Amino acid sequence: MAIWNSRFKKPLAEIALKFSSSIDIDGKLYNEDIDGSKAHVRMLAKQKIISLSESKKIIKALDGIRKKISSGKLKLDWRKEDIHSLIEERLVEKIGNVGKKLHTARSRNDQVALDERLYMRKEIKELIKLTRSIQKTFLEKAEQYKNTIIPGYTHLQRAQPLLFAHQLIAYISMLDRDVERLNDCMKRADKSPLGAAALAGTTLNTDRNLVAKFLGMNGIVENSLDAVSSRDVMIELISACSIIMMHLSRFSEEMVLWSSQEFGFADIDDSFATGSSLMPQKKNPDIAELVRGKVGRVYGSLFGLLTIMKALPLAYNRDMQEDKVHLLEAVNTTKDCLLLSSELLKHTNFRKNRFEKELDGDLSLATELVDYLVRKNVPFREAHHIVGKIVAVCWDQNKKLNEILLADYKKISSKFEQGVYKYLTARSCVENRKSSGSTSPKEVERQLHFWKKNLQ
Ligand code: ARG
Repeated sequence: MAIWNSRFKKPLAEIALKFSSSIDIDGKLYNEDIDGSKAHVRMLAKQKIISLSESKKIIKALDGIRKKISSGKLKLDWRKEDIHSLIEERLVEKIGNVGKKLHTARSRNDQVALDERLYMRKEIKELIKLTRSIQKTFLEKAEQYKNTIIPGYTHLQRAQPLLFAHQLIAYISMLDRDVERLNDCMKRADKSPLGAAALAGTTLNTDRNLVAKFLGMNGIVENSLDAVSSRDVMIELISACSIIMMHLSRFSEEMVLWSSQEFGFADIDDSFATGSSLMPQKKNPDIAELVRGKVGRVYGSLFGLLTIMKALPLAYNRDMQEDKVHLLEAVNTTKDCLLLSSELLKHTNFRKNRFEKELDGDLSLATELVDYLVRKNVPFREAHHIVGKIVAVCWDQNKKLNEILLADYKKISSKFEQGVYKYLTARSCVENRKSSGSTSPKEVERQLHFWKKNLQ
């Protein structure tokens, strides 16, 4: 029998019950549900709505139920509809009529909203920990490869040489904003909706702030309708997860490229690569590809929840039960991917000397020539035009920039002098950067120093 059945002449049809049961998902929130109930009961006693001895009995029994669930002795039976009903029914079975006082002045609507916020609070902390941890892995690698030169790309066409550390630090910076977003979301998540009851509040003399205080939350969600029927904070958390996943997928894509034979840059440890059932020579970057692929789950969750909430009239509607599927999917997938991406990076070696020689005299140093002319007072647009002509010569004669004779440079512009060649190495290219935040060794060192200090 459901906890609400007395006005009904028949029990809910089994297939309808099975369809509407959410215990397979909200059963995972049993700890949050019990924490919330205990705080609620302590408040009821403090406000003299129930007696102190009644509250103690309920709390003791709730702790017992928690143990039974965690040890697997109490099965999460879908016939109980949801975790709230299951726990309340079990409580009444255990301690009788006193147990029937647990649900005084609350509804499952504010109860589930509280469970979700407690869950989000816990998981935001986990997500932040994992994000910090992968940032540290990026930092270790950046330190390890601070002298390694790679081609930087735009449009996946060679653009300008970079220090590999610079590219790795870019990810640290992105992930840092991810942490900021999570922290910001935490401010709004960490508020208690409990005591809003079904939608309108209660006539009983409750103290909503006390429940929040018992749970260590930083306030209440004031308006009772808002408290039970808003899921924007949850959407915000899934958005933050989506952005993390977007960042991880860009890194994954680079790992896939770098580990290809064409790039020949990344060497993934055998323990993080897979083979082919047919082609004996294959070593595939499946972990990176899976992270890239799992973005679909998290974006799917974001659109799933946005769609559920769209056009729902206030206040609670049963549609909202579907929210937890998306919340848990997004959080768990993002946590897995943060961990696995970090491990993949730890288990990858990069060939330090893969690119530097090849980049000496490479066309990706063309901008060096432009800056050279600009320093000789040639207007930028004109300098760009001159160097474009030199690039055309290189293409026609299949030559590198450092293979063009000075006489031929001079044919295109008299401003070129012997000294120009010293600008045509990959090393000088990165070393000559002056602007703050550039890929120069000095700036990279400064950034490394900053992150070492800030990621402690
Ligand atoms: N299982 C429900 C959910 O997750 C709990 C709230 C149910 N409230 C109700 N009035 N049916 O949304």
